[in-house]
Amino acid sequence: MASLLIYGSYGYVGNLIAREAIDRGLDPMLAGRDHDQLREQVDDLGQSGRRFDLEDPEIVADALEDVDCVLNCAGPFSNTADALVEGCLRSETDYVDITGEIPVIESIEDRDEAAIDAGVTLLPAAALSTVPMDCLAAHLVERLPEATDLALGVDSFRVPSIGTVRTVLEGADTGGAVRRDGHVESVPTAWRTREIDFGRGTRPAVTMPMGDISTAHYTTGVPNVEMYAVMPQPARLALESHRYLEPLFESKLVRRTLKGVAGIRDGPSERARERGSAYIWGEASTDDGERVVSRLRTPDPYVVTTDGAVTVAERVLAGDAEDGFQTPAGAFGPEFVFELDGVDGFFDESTPDETSPVSPLLQ
Ligand SMILES: NC(=O)c1ccc[n+]([C@@H]2O[C@H](COP(=O)([O-])OP(=O)(O)OC[C@H]3O[C@@H](n4cnc5c(N)ncnc54)[C@H](OP(=O)(O)O)[C@@H]3O)[C@@H](O)[C@H]2O)c1
Repeated sequence: MASLLIYGSYGYVGNLIAREAIDRGLDPMLAGRDHDQLREQVDDLGQSGRRFDLEDPEIVADALEDVDCVLNCAGPFSNTADALVEGCLRSETDYVDITGEIPVIESIEDRDEAAIDAGVTLLPAAALSTVPMDCLAAHLVERLPEATDLALGVDSFRVPSIGTVRTVLEGADTGGAVRRDGHVESVPTAWRTREIDFGRGTRPAVTMPMGDISTAHYTTGVPNVEMYAVMPQPARLALESHRYLEPLFESKLVRRTLKGVAGIRDGPSERARERGSAYIWGEASTDDGERVVSRLRTPDPYVVTTDGAVTVAERVLAGDAEDGFQTPAGAFGPEFVFELDGVDGFFDESTPDETSPVSPLLQ
């Protein structure tokens, strides 16, 4: 059997992914930089483990020499992806991760040629952000091939894991982002608010700098992409005021305190994951006013992330993805999302009316 190494396997999401990979018979090697946490997980799950940090590219490449695919779960990925991608290129190992960080996806895309030369697949963002949104984007552009603009959105607000909070805080200095004329453009945090019907009535959603700004563009070629997320009122106000509070967030003391507060819990419980769900919405439009809208409903974001990452790794190990930089829908097509448990079909609206109280998902 081809070999899979899960880096950051003892983090909250890494541990969910490791357990899922074991359940599917992938026999993953567990890996990370901390001896004690890795030892404890190796003993608990009865798998082999490999401890290495990401300081020296030679050591990383040596550690991956006998590995067919790395699944990187160690975030913030701005601190880990470069080193693991470099190690993968040197050792001719395929690379998958669960990042939602735009700069990370962009810098992996920059390694496209090197990956083709090395005969390696680089497939970042195999998670909630971006598997369902990427597949929905590809589906929308199949419906409207001349689309010039994509707006995508997710309504799934839930208590995040500590790792997600850390990642958001790490990226907080950079504000928001959209894609304009093919380029990532910085905009203020929560730059635009839009009333969107995700399938259960309209809700206000704000622009968010999620990885879909990168993946949806590379999958479809559409030059303008905006990504929206529903936020409860207090979080929305905090985000909007973040614009004015940005200098405060730059204070190391404030960020350390926030991280400390967020560190009270690891992530949502099994019960919360079983009950959770995400509503995904997308709109493709043209300059001359043509528009199509489609929706998707998925299980809980952490369930989708776990299922998505392991399913992508399985497909990459099976040799189903081409060499070079890949996106989920670019590699496997828009219907790839239906390989995930509990995702059944696109809900297409031919004449969108965002204020309509009736939605196909509610019928
Ligand atoms: N795209 C999406 O939709 C999506 C969904 C869910 C999660 N995520 C992302 O996934 C990441 C993990 O989340 P989580 O909840 O599992 O976080 P977590 O519990 O904090 O786990 C993070 C893991 O990364 C490792 N790590 C962090 N920095 C490292 C470094 N510089 N070198 C080596 N290892 C490092 C940690 O090891 P140590 O303990 O040794 O530091 C730990 O194993 C976050 O960035 C989160 O935002 C993305």
